[in-house]
Amino acid sequence: MNIIEVRNLVKTFENNSIKTTVLKGISFDMAEGEFVAVMGQSGSGKSTLLYNISGMDQMSSGQVTIDQVDLAGKSDDQLAELRLNMMGFIFQNNYLLKNLSLFDNICLPGFKAKNDSREVVEERAQQLMKRLNIEDVKDSAIHQVSGGQLQRAAICRSLINQPRILFADEPTGSLNSRNAEEVMSIFNQLNREGMSILIVTHDPKIASVTDRIIYLKDGQIEAQLELGKLTESDNPRLREEKTLHWLIQRGF
Ligand SMILES: Nc1ncnc2c1ncn2[C@@H]1O[C@H](COP(=O)(O)OP(=O)(O)OP(=O)(O)O)[C@@H](O)[C@H]1O
Ligand SMILES: [Mg+2]
Repeated sequence: MNIIEVRNLVKTFENNSIKTTVLKGISFDMAEGEFVAVMGQSGSGKSTLLYNISGMDQMSSGQVTIDQVDLAGKSDDQLAELRLNMMGFIFQNNYLLKNLSLFDNICLPGFKAKNDSREVVEERAQQLMKRLNIEDVKDSAIHQVSGGQLQRAAICRSLINQPRILFADEPTGSLNSRNAEEVMSIFNQLNREGMSILIVTHDPKIASVTDRIIYLKDGQIEAQLELGKLTESDNPRLREEKTLHWLIQRGF
């Protein structure tokens, strides 16, 4: 079953009556349980694609269905509810609230969704912080922690409602390579547990552990690389080399 179906997605921005078409007819499917990377040069439309697929921004034309639900015709409230219950987000600039501790930031979408009791949400937040190795800064304010810790808190927050789809825009951008690898291994684990993941990354090594890479160029899908699920017997080096080779051919 497809968890995401995108057909002829077009996005045009208009500023001072100057129109810029950033997504020029994007079509692809994502199967439930798939782990997909979106790559492409800066400005190719990766973040815009994520915003439009998740209904956070309104596409100009085309069709997007999430778990068979057509986003067209949904009200802002309906879209917000769909996101809260089904999707997790890690933004390129993580929007954690300044006046809340890391822990409270992580719990917030859990309280908002009202699917679970306060205790259950708090317990889950605790577990996530442990898993991402930030439990020691649980009560810190966001200006008191490092960029990497902040990013890991943003990851915890995105997972608090146990989403079926995770959208992640450069989730390892502010992490050193050891932390980035750790985060990717957590993503791989979540994916094995059934979560569908769509991740934007500039890092070929990160992309090489996903199932498939979609390469965007000037708002269109230029090519896709099918890598298949990462298995125990896989040689990570070979996957990385294959990915790099393919990217170099694209002029990356
Ligand atoms: N609100 C907006 N109004 C006008 N143009 C926009 C808007 N948002 C994005 N753009 C333009 O759309 C293009 C794609 O932007 P987008 O942020 O999707 O790129 P990206 O692939 O995510 O880049 P990066 O790798 O740097 O994050 C850019 O040229 C950008 O200037
Ligand atoms: Mg971007």
